[in-house]
Amino acid sequence: MQFKLLAKDRSGARRGEFTTHHGTVQTPAFMPVGTAGYVHSTPARDVAEAGAEVLLANTYHLSLGDRLASVRYMGGLHRFMGWDRTILTDSGGFQVFSLPDRVIDDEGVTFSYEEDGEKVTLTPEKSMEIQRDLGADIVMAFDECVSHTADRNYVGKSVGLTTAWASRCRDVKLQDHQFLFGIVQGGVFDDLRRRSAKEITAIPFDGFAIGGVSVGEGFDLMRRVVGVTAPCLPEDLPRYLMGVGLPEDILEAVHLGMDMFDCVIPTRYARQGTLFTRTGKLRIKNKNFRKDRYPLDTKCSCYTCRTFSRMVLRYLFFSGDPLAETLATIHNITFYQDLMTDIRSAIEENRFESFKREWLEIYKKNR
Ligand code: GUN
Ligand code: ZN
Repeated sequence: MQFKLLAKDRSGARRGEFTTHHGTVQTPAFMPVGTAGYVHSTPARDVAEAGAEVLLANTYHLSLGDRLASVRYMGGLHRFMGWDRTILTDSGGFQVFSLPDRVIDDEGVTFSYEEDGEKVTLTPEKSMEIQRDLGADIVMAFDECVSHTADRNYVGKSVGLTTAWASRCRDVKLQDHQFLFGIVQGGVFDDLRRRSAKEITAIPFDGFAIGGVSVGEGFDLMRRVVGVTAPCLPEDLPRYLMGVGLPEDILEAVHLGMDMFDCVIPTRYARQGTLFTRTGKLRIKNKNFRKDRYPLDTKCSCYTCRTFSRMVLRYLFFSGDPLAETLATIHNITFYQDLMTDIRSAIEENRFESFKREWLEIYKKNR
């Protein structure tokens, strides 16, 4: 993969760009999540208009029942999703490990799908074949995401397993346009993180991810894990922090040198009526907004903010109409993309640290 490091801020934050078969991606980048081949409540057109350049989808959800056959019949995930920009698929390594009945051995993981109880074994090879058929531009290696409470002995063994699986993933032939990223694990143990980074980066991947964070470990542990791991990753390839996060988490991880992020937070919160603004989160159902004719965020130029007031959005939420979720999702995704745009400018202008401080000051003031 051609990753151009365009600028590096004195703080260590990186500004870059890479190109896939479906376009160029500016980093630091935030990828909204379309788990099962769609972003809940929201047309891909609106996600693109919000400024997103990459969408994430999941092997686990897209291999259930006849879904993979449907995607193939449609000619691939891009057409299935109505999205002509870059797509990244996750390997299933994360979803599977939160299932209650999973059994792990060297071969892979055996589990039952939550939706229909179908029992399957997902192996590194199987995950690669599914992701090859889905046709995403970036595919992820199959890893074991360990709990942050897992003990040292378990995590040590797991790191070895994730390395063995990573190299089996690299051996599978993908489509010519597809890039493959490796995933570093290692729980909350500094030396195991370093060991995992060393083993995974020895395999010729096109980019590297840090996994096993945003699993309930909290801000300080996340910060430590990323602080230890990021410096072990090559300078000249993209670095992806999986499943992160809140705006404050992203700002912190950019500071520590990470380039890519994904999280269900902006879309999930939107559907629950929690909206992000530059002065903090607001709960739109709160009665304070009953007679509020302001837009959600006066600095936002998304369709929702250009068109609707807080009081009308509140009314739509109470009416239970799906329009409320759509409008809220458009706003939250735009908010995240605007944040990334501002982060990128700040890095280019070598003022990331003061940007971060001032941004957080305004964001946190009302709490
Ligand atoms: N998404 C969030 N964390 C992880 C992880 O550790 N592994 C994978 N495959 N996906 C993730
Ligand atoms: Zn808006």
